[in-house]
Amino acid sequence: MTKRRVVLSALAIPMLAPARASPEAGLPEGGPGLGAIAATRGILYGAAVGAAHIANPAFAAAVRRECAIIVGENDFKWRPTQPQPDQPTFGRADAVAGFAAENRLRLRGHTMIWQESLPPWVTERLSAGRAVAEATIRARASVMAARYRGRIMTWDVVNEAVGGDNTGPEMMRDTPFHRALGESFLDIAFAAAREADPDARLAYNDFGLEQAVPWQDQHRSAVLRLLERLLSRGVPVDTLGIQAHLQTEWAFDATVLSRFLRDVAGLGLHIEITELDVDDRALPAAIEPRDAAVADLTRRFLDVALAERRVDVVMTWGLSDRHSWLSRTPSRQRADGNRQRGLPLDEEFRRKPMWQAMAEAFRSAPPRG
Ligand code: G3I
Repeated sequence: MTKRRVVLSALAIPMLAPARASPEAGLPEGGPGLGAIAATRGILYGAAVGAAHIANPAFAAAVRRECAIIVGENDFKWRPTQPQPDQPTFGRADAVAGFAAENRLRLRGHTMIWQESLPPWVTERLSAGRAVAEATIRARASVMAARYRGRIMTWDVVNEAVGGDNTGPEMMRDTPFHRALGESFLDIAFAAAREADPDARLAYNDFGLEQAVPWQDQHRSAVLRLLERLLSRGVPVDTLGIQAHLQTEWAFDATVLSRFLRDVAGLGLHIEITELDVDDRALPAAIEPRDAAVADLTRRFLDVALAERRVDVVMTWGLSDRHSWLSRTPSRQRADGNRQRGLPLDEEFRRKPMWQAMAEAFRSAPPRG
């Protein structure tokens, strides 16, 4: 291998085919992927993948072409990794971690503690008294952090702990974790994760932080207050994960988002965009204007997000419309039966206007130090 080739592969930049314009869309089919373009500004771009999806060679090639980092969409969650207390099943998570290592991609970990995708035995233990609940949470964080120690850039230690119905004054979500231990479940999980993998960034990850609608105003301020409380107690949280499941029918206000990002950055935290996609249910079926509206919202969001230099990771929640949870999840499906088009590649892994919007946003972003 020549020196140049070694350097390129170390940066996870694939050997690139010459750029060709796609006749229908006017988009480049070859040329650098989003990961390589974002890297020119010191930003990591990548996508959520499933172990089953990367087994498809055409999709695996698209991931290698576009991504510098991946995250398991579902494969590291509690239910698939520990369906029974004494039977860990890490096959799918290991497949995703192995793919990252083979292709020199970075890896995010998603997620240790979340009230969804919980095996029933966990819910039972969480209601068996404080000591059992605490030991269950500590063991989960320790096992996951230790197994993938040194391989995960950032762990989503706790996911979606704020908001929802039946919340108290702090707006903490009513979950089995919170019912068992109050807010201290976060302290327990973060401390165990830090102990088992001291070098990983540890994230609190949440949705509803991006757009200018009243419930998100409340959510932003509740998350900010939670982060302040965690930091004041010395909880080792390093990063806020902003999911960014955008919806075209909701208002977007650059001032609102940039003020929130400045407040979070002011706490000394990193900020990662962890699950970007665009729900296009409110748009008419015609592809061209739908793709244009999705691209436009993506660009407006990313321009504001990337103007904040603490944002150094951008993940989309999937790479191709073929696999998007938006089309798999009944409550998110379009009434007209068409597939949602909220990701950068179409169902045949071709670049879409959203891809172009992301490429331009990365190229325009101020470089990270
Ligand atoms: O794999 C099984 C399959 O064997 C079975 O036949 C099928 C029948 O329902 O279910 C399949 O599992 C589903 C899995 O997605 C894979 O498609 C689960 O039922 C379904 O609950 C699961 O939904 C996932 C959801 O999280 C809950 O874990 C979505 O794919 C995933 O995109 C979504 O991701 C979340 C993030 O983790 C957190 N932020 C919000 C985001 C979107 O909801």
